[in-house]
This record gives sequence, structure tokens and C-alpha cells, in this order.
Amino acid sequence: MWSEKATQTICVVGFLIGVCLASELSFLLEPSDVIAVRDRPLMLECRVQGEEPIMVTWRKNGVPLPTSPRVRVLANGTLFIQNFQKRKEGVDADMGEYDCTAQNRYGLLVSRKAKVLLASLPKFHTHPASMAVDEGGVARFQCQINGVPEANITWERDRIALNTSDSRYTLLPMGILQVTGVRQSDAGVFRCVATNIANVRFSGAPKTYKEPVILSGPQNLTLTVHQTAILECIATGNPRPIVSWSRLDGRSIGVEGIQVLGTGNLMISDVSLQHSGVYVCAANRPGTRMRRTALGRLVVQAPPEFLQWPQSVSKPAGGSAVFTCVAQGVPEPHLIWLKNGKVLMPGHNVKLTNNNR
Ligand SMILES: *[C@@H]1O[C@H](CO)[C@@H](O)[C@H](O)[C@H]1NC(C)=O
Ligand SMILES: *[C@@H]1O[C@H](CO)[C@@H](O)[C@H](O)[C@H]1NC(C)=O
Ligand SMILES: *[C@@H]1O[C@H](CO)[C@@H](O)[C@H](O)[C@H]1NC(C)=O
Ligand SMILES: *[C@@H]1O[C@H](CO)[C@@H](O)[C@H](O)[C@H]1NC(C)=O
Repeated sequence: MWSEKATQTICVVGFLIGVCLASELSFLLEPSDVIAVRDRPLMLECRVQGEEPIMVTWRKNGVPLPTSPRVRVLANGTLFIQNFQKRKEGVDADMGEYDCTAQNRYGLLVSRKAKVLLASLPKFHTHPASMAVDEGGVARFQCQINGVPEANITWERDRIALNTSDSRYTLLPMGILQVTGVRQSDAGVFRCVATNIANVRFSGAPKTYKEPVILSGPQNLTLTVHQTAILECIATGNPRPIVSWSRLDGRSIGVEGIQVLGTGNLMISDVSLQHSGVYVCAANRPGTRMRRTALGRLVVQAPPEFLQWPQSVSKPAGGSAVFTCVAQGVPEPHLIWLKNGKVLMPGHNVKLTNNNR
């Protein structure tokens, strides 16, 4: 109903053609869709020609817009919002659909509806992820952000804008960066920069590659059989290294009684003499042969144990008597002889053989 036709109808009905053309209302400028920036001024145009006086009023979402010092209609019909507001306490958001209405004594004209959005740049929802690339290979990074208006994405390496005239760099929509023919000199921290009228944001930087490092390797341990050995090994790096264990002598560690505690600590329950040896903890960069190692010696001791005891013997005077004693243990036990509770020293008629001296 509110249209240019209404004006023309009035013309046809009541006036000569010449008068009518002069009085007829028409838009020179209608408000257009716009993305506004918070706290900045915004102007919506509405320029009309026709017979004066012409009154221009504005509506927001179909409702007459109350004017205030902050929101007012200028003499040329422009709607002026002094500082564009997002909804907050006591203040309505300025976003919405605006139209202007021009009226003179002959008729009334309503403009198109102009959509007014608030510019925004929320945080990145995808940050570029770290990559390890062989020389000559291809690297690809992606970052994503939802901006209004859509953000312009550029890239930085070590905080310096990437030279995109280098043909090895390809920027694709959706925040994708491809690097072909990767060289040593490409290594660095890549991040993207998103820019629109609302803001500038930097993506998080991917964690850079870090060689595997063993923070704490195994200690030398001396234990007694049946005890439990815990050999520590904790490694860091990016990507996270893989920790593995072996014996320096190449013998198998076995599986019985063996457990891994946490990410890489080795636990051997109920140790026996065979468990003695040098243990090697290796931290490998996944998918490569690149590794760091740390060594720890495990010594398992066994308490002395008799295998053979001295036996009682009867011998005629002047003969010789032999007493035998055999013990085992780790380290090898030291034997001493006692006679009637006193240490027996070798003398002219007492001889100790083997390691009894
Ligand atoms: C209307 O007036 C304002 C303030 O004088 C000016 O900034 C704006 O450009 C004018 N608009 C048009 C369409 O002439
Ligand atoms: C995006 O940024 C680049 C580099 O500053 C500039 O050349 C380009 O014109 C911008 N594109 C848009 C759509 O703003
Ligand atoms: C950018 O790369 C092009 C092509 O490799 C090169 O000619 C130009 O000098 C580089 N510019 C800068 C500033 O490094
Ligand atoms: C463990 O013992 C070896 C000798 O067997 C020695 O070289 C090494 O430094 C010792 N390691 C620690 C952590 O004490």
C-alpha cells in the first residue's frame, strides 16, 4: 500500500501533469545494507526529491524509531547513529532492519528495508597445527574464523608477513596455506592474521617441533633377589617421543613380571640374578630413527647360601682332616673358618685352600 503508486494515484486524480511531476516523491538514495562497527557512528542515507516540505521519518523493524541525541534524523534525511550499540543494560541493540518514509502534502513513500548487522570477529575456531615435513615435501596449515564481514586472512612466519609472491606459497579460501618444495629455511612458527572492520586477531601458534629429550633416565640400582626394580624414564618432545627399553647386551628383557608404569618407566617385579645388566631407555621421534638414550645398571644380589657343609670326622693323631665348605651368592661370598668360636688362622698345621687362602 505504501508505494510510489500511491503518489501517482493522487497526481492523476487531482492535478495537472506538470504540477504533478514536480510534486511527485521519488528516492534519489535509499538506505543500503550495511555492517556497522560497535561504538562508531553510522549513517543511513535517505534522499528524496519532490515538492517541499518533505518529512523524512525512520522505522526500525517496522516500528517508528524514537529519536534522541544519540539517534537522530539529519536535515538531508540521513539517519545518524552517534555510536553504534550492541545490546547492553538499558540500551537496545542498534542492529535491525531500517526503512525511511518520506512524506509531503501529496503522498507518502517508503524505502526498501536495509539490514544493519554488527561487525564481529570472534576467536579462531581452528588454529594451525604443527607439522614435521621432510625437505622437498609439502606443508599445509589451516585456520578458521567466523567474521562479519568475512575476515581477510593473511599469514606470518615467525611474526613476519609471508611473502605470498613466492610461488611455493598457495593461499586458498577457508584459511588454507600450502607450502610446496619445503626448505630448511621454511621452518618456523606459522600463524594467521584475520582482519575485518571489527578487529584483528592472531591465531595461536602451533607448537614448534622439539627434539626428544630424556628428562630423567634410569638410576643405577642394587637390589636383592625377589625385590622390585623400578627404572625411570621420562621423555619430552614434540611430537611426543615413544619410549622403549632394551638391554645393552642385546638379551631380551622378557615379559614375565615386566610392567610399564606411566608413560615409560619400567618395573620388574621379583628380580632374579638374570635381571642384572645395563638397561637402555630410548626416546624415539615417532616415525623416525632419531632417538635419545639413557643407561642404568641393575645389579641383583643374592644372599650367601651353603651348598656344602663341613662334616664331622674322626682321625687318628698325626693324620690330616679335610673340611669342605662351599657357598654361593652374588657377589661371591667370603668364607671364614672358626674353631671353637675363634677365627681359625692359617698356620703350620692349618691350611686353607681355594679362596679361603
Ligand atoms: C547528509 O548530511 C550529513 C551531515 O551534514 C553528511 O555527512 C551526509 O553526507 C549527507 N548525506 C547526503 C546523502 O548528502
Ligand atoms: C587482504 O589483505 C591483503 C594483504 O594486506 C590485501 O592485499 C587484500 O586486498 C585484502 N583483501 C581484502 C578482501 O580485504
Ligand atoms: C618475495 O618473493 C619473490 C619471489 O620469490 C621475490 O622476488 C621477492 O624479492 C620477495 N620479496 C621479499 C620482500 O622478500
Ligand atoms: C651408573 O654406573 C655406571 C658404571 O657402571 C656409571 O658410568 C654411571 O655414571 C652410573 N650412572 C649413574 C646415574 O649413577
